[in-house]
Amino acid sequence: MQKPIYLDYNGTTPHDPEVIAAMRPYLESVFGNPSSAHWYGIQPKQAVEKARRQVAGLVHCRPEEILFTSGGTESNNHAIQGAARALKAKGRHIITSAFEHPAVLEVCRHLSAEGFETTYVPVDAQGMVAPGDIAKAIRPDTILITIMHANNEVGTIQPIAEIAALARARGIVMHTDAAQSLGKIPVDVQSLGVDLLSVAGHKLYAPKGIGALFVRQSLTLEKFCHGAGQEKGQRAGTENVLEIVGLGQACEIAARDMNANMAHLRAMRDRLHQGIAARLQDVRLNGHPDQRLPNTVSLAFKKIIANRLLEEIGLEVAASAGAACHADTVAVSHVLEAMQVPLEWAQGTLRFSVGRMTTAEEVDRAVEVVARAVSKLRATA
Ligand SMILES: Cc1ncc(COP(=O)(O)O)c(C=O)c1O
Repeated sequence: MQKPIYLDYNGTTPHDPEVIAAMRPYLESVFGNPSSAHWYGIQPKQAVEKARRQVAGLVHCRPEEILFTSGGTESNNHAIQGAARALKAKGRHIITSAFEHPAVLEVCRHLSAEGFETTYVPVDAQGMVAPGDIAKAIRPDTILITIMHANNEVGTIQPIAEIAALARARGIVMHTDAAQSLGKIPVDVQSLGVDLLSVAGHKLYAPKGIGALFVRQSLTLEKFCHGAGQEKGQRAGTENVLEIVGLGQACEIAARDMNANMAHLRAMRDRLHQGIAARLQDVRLNGHPDQRLPNTVSLAFKKIIANRLLEEIGLEVAASAGAACHADTVAVSHVLEAMQVPLEWAQGTLRFSVGRMTTAEEVDRAVEVVARAVSKLRATA
């Protein structure tokens, strides 16, 4: 059986062959503990520090400002809880948006039990946060602003540099979740002006279960995991050397091939969008038309239920739904809800996300499959 065409790269990515090659020795023969003082510890220790330099190179910080984590979720937890608890004597107010990943929203919600209060700023119809709304939400006790760099469902890229400038002027810590942007667009912690930035390895062709957190040198977070002294005492536990090596290699590749990859992603994404729009009526783009990840196209199909469409195309195309239908109720994603996408569009939303391995032939085939399925479902509705 031929596998379905994979158009869900925002969900996760396959391993890059160069990432596999870099990891192979650490799977097969180099097994030492980086903390060991003997010979076996030397190469793993050097490999972890090389990977730290590779990640730092991609986000433009010092290697000492990179902590390895288990992924985007842990990085967000560490950044938000670590900053909030370290700064609680100063204040207990956090600002975020209504449209973040649950790995941010749930952390803020959890902190309410410790007396932290969160303001959720709105996004506009294209999924953009207005820096003016952030400015209005700032209070004397605001200690942290956390806004994602790019949204996972619709791809809208936020004005992080402008928001971070507001934060910095008031001595507020600024965090951004860059799980979706890193590797797809340039990410530079200096020009963004952020203090904390989350990285998720499996979104950039490294394995699942590895990530990183940039922590500006001037900032000290509350320790995330107690135990021995790994990761500057912030995150105890023997390092995941194999996957750290993979993440480092993935970051080096992303930096090296950024321009070529961006051009490819944009070409594939636009070919898909234009192909579908040319074949079907009543199709609408969710998200910002320009300030958007080069690989992401969230399309709303009128008179369609997303889950039904996914079932119809499922053997041929893998994408993801923006709404889930249970019995006779439709649960629209919190992202589309925050953007106030009308139900008749939101319920028929699919996210397509292309990747480095996507080919024009795959896109053309996916266009035919989706167009045929939408026409069939509309005809039988
Ligand atoms: C924006 C965003 N943040 C965080 C995460 C969580 O990352 P991880 O799966 O590495 O925990 C994801 C993954 O979907 C994401 O899209």
